[in-house]
Amino acid sequence: MEEQLVFSKNKSEANDQQLDLERIPNHIAIIMDGNGRWAQKRHLPRVAGHKQGMQTVKKVTIAASDLGVKVLSLYAFSTENWKRPSSEVNYLMQLPIRFFSTFVPDLVKHNVKVAVMGDITKLPEQTQKAVKDAIADTADCNGMILNFALNYGSRDEITRAMKKIGQAVKDGQIDPMTIDEQMLSQHMMSAQLGEYADPDLLIRTSGEERISNFMLWQIAYSELEFVPEHWPDFDGESLKTAIIEFQGRHRRFGGLKNQ
Ligand code: IPE
Ligand code: IPE
Ligand code: MG
Repeated sequence: MEEQLVFSKNKSEANDQQLDLERIPNHIAIIMDGNGRWAQKRHLPRVAGHKQGMQTVKKVTIAASDLGVKVLSLYAFSTENWKRPSSEVNYLMQLPIRFFSTFVPDLVKHNVKVAVMGDITKLPEQTQKAVKDAIADTADCNGMILNFALNYGSRDEITRAMKKIGQAVKDGQIDPMTIDEQMLSQHMMSAQLGEYADPDLLIRTSGEERISNFMLWQIAYSELEFVPEHWPDFDGESLKTAIIEFQGRHRRFGGLKNQ
């Protein structure tokens, strides 16, 4: 235990030395994965991992806000997660209620504004209320945006965008020849994030190396990091380590390195 503490202290000191506070990514998106495996490794039910994962969300939110991140997008429930056993789905639907009922005062204290992407009309009434209340209660905050993806799927998002644009064409409001990338971006659920709609850094925990229908349009030029820790083990130091790795990358956006 003592050794572990010494190790984390060293890790934290090393991180602080290497982190460039002038080059913090504006938008960090995280696919929070591995809750179930974290629990199973401890012979606990999968939902125990989700419960612990909620604590990680709190820690990482504060850490990101303290570092000056502008937008933190967290993938909490996908359009495909309905396929899970109803007991697990029900538990996951209770989590936003628990999360916001204990955490909104901290969010306000840190000037963090809550936003949501995804079709929340399919969530239970109480969950919808918790989400809407959190959005309303943090509406005046103008620090970091904590953007939850809830019942979110990127293909669903793109399909909805196409429907809206198609309807506008049909109604004669837009000429199809004027459809451009900017128009599509403006019809995505991330449009509310303004200039920070596209993540600079996308992190997935648990060692899985796939995107699982998350922000496909927006991550065209994001830096991707797949980290082995399960989400309940991730923390502020893990976030700093990921940012240091990001700061060592050379983003080129199709151009040349020294342009
Ligand atoms: C991520 O953890 C949380 C959600 C998808 C809601 P998982 O529940 O996917 O955990 P694993 O991947 O099965 O370990
Ligand atoms: C992605 O994780 C969704 C969330 C983190 C909310 P999954 O665990 O659902 O993804 P797959 O099924 O492993 O691709
Ligand atoms: Mg998973």
